[in-house]
Amino acid sequence: MQILLLSRLLILCLAFASSSARPAPWVMRISCGARENVKTPPTNTLWFKDFAYTGGIFTNATRPSYISPPLKTLRYFPTSGGPENCYNIKRVPKGHYSVRVFFGLVGQPNFDNEPLFDVSVEGTQIYSLKSGWTSHDDQVFTEALVFLTDGTASICFHSTGHGDPAILSIEILQIDNNAYNFGPEWGRGTILRTAMRLTSGTGKPKFGVDYGGDPWGGDRFWNPITSFSQNFDHPRSTESSIKKASNAPNFYPQALYQTALVSTDSEPDLAYTMDVDPNRNYSIWLHFAEIDASVTDVGQRVFDVIINGDTAFKDVDIVKMSGDRYTALVLNTTVAVSGRTLTINLHPKVGSHAIVNAIEVFEIIIAEFKTLSEEVSALESLKTALGLPLRFGWNGDPCVPQQHPWSGVDCHLDSTKSKWFIDGL
Ligand SMILES: *[C@@H]1O[C@H](CO)[C@@H](O)[C@H](O)[C@H]1NC(C)=O
Ligand SMILES: *[C@@H]1O[C@H](CO)[C@@H](O)[C@H](O)[C@H]1NC(C)=O
Ligand SMILES: *[C@@H]1O[C@H](CO)[C@@H](O)[C@H](O)[C@H]1NC(C)=O
Repeated sequence: MQILLLSRLLILCLAFASSSARPAPWVMRISCGARENVKTPPTNTLWFKDFAYTGGIFTNATRPSYISPPLKTLRYFPTSGGPENCYNIKRVPKGHYSVRVFFGLVGQPNFDNEPLFDVSVEGTQIYSLKSGWTSHDDQVFTEALVFLTDGTASICFHSTGHGDPAILSIEILQIDNNAYNFGPEWGRGTILRTAMRLTSGTGKPKFGVDYGGDPWGGDRFWNPITSFSQNFDHPRSTESSIKKASNAPNFYPQALYQTALVSTDSEPDLAYTMDVDPNRNYSIWLHFAEIDASVTDVGQRVFDVIINGDTAFKDVDIVKMSGDRYTALVLNTTVAVSGRTLTINLHPKVGSHAIVNAIEVFEIIIAEFKTLSEEVSALESLKTALGLPLRFGWNGDPCVPQQHPWSGVDCHLDSTKSKWFIDGL
């Protein structure tokens, strides 16, 4: 008895030792426009007061959505300050990060209420806000997974002539160096923009912290979906614990696998369709756990995964591939999409119903090369020496994103050096 107790204690100690051996991820959260640090409920999250901005004006904010963090201020960038505006955050340890920006709405009457603008991270354009974004909860922020290797994080907002960019918050959350490794193209040269993250079979939106997820998971937002097809499918849930859930490098919360959608006889295929930007590559991550009491063994539920008509995975048998029931299985694949929709179809082969717990879709973006740093410093000095008016902007990288070079600057790419040079002014 005592030996048993002792050995249990020992195991407990070891478990603590190994978990405390892993340092906490580096985290920076900024409450834009705030003059004091802010802590927000329900998780008492710390947001630093506003800093590291190149310009703009602080004011009171209206939250566009109930999923936006409960912050009261924002920073907006009127056109008088130029078209390129940034946050340049320094002393960021070299690593892999989830960078998330929540957009805001200026909390004053008579303000153009839905600004449209472009967002770049480290010189690569990751997102263009879409008309109507204020009425879609999943469009009130943008998020990208990016390697930050030069000690800084440069996040810029580019005006497109549709209102003043307005930013509620910025988060820079370290994630595992190997997170979301989708294959040979993955790495420093690519950025993954989160296009969609779904948790199926539940109506509750959840962030990683709400799930009590590992902080190395990057506090992901999971958008709930209760049906893919007007209730021809059915939600399933379990309280049983799920094996192999919170593993490195992606640390998915166990609760993600405790709900699912299952198809029915009236519509055996389980199909999810979303709008995408055409002519892009997408990285798709599918999450499964056999949590349906009616499936008890290998070979009882087998289905194909068909993406835009092409078979991505043949004969998926969750129990067989994960090793057991109530065990997480993650599959990822990369697809080139030429049209404007992405359809993921789970087609039953054995047993007449398919199941899915969660889906993640990322746009794969090729990272831009940067402008030679000496040239940037030269231009910065010029800007100060000439006392260039604010409306020039001239923030961020002079040549990239290619969609938004500094006005009056001619750039060319030296492909042998993988750097941009300035040809003339
Ligand atoms: C913001 O709101 C506070 C209190 O609600 C108010 O006192 C303050 O004047 C407002 N600031 C601006 C810039 O509108
Ligand atoms: C994702 O898929 C690629 C290509 O099939 C594979 O090499 C890689 O190991 C997968 N990543 C994970 C984390 O499963
Ligand atoms: C998509 O991936 C293919 C193969 O890696 C590549 O040749 C192509 O340039 C990529 N397309 C885009 C838009 O990134």
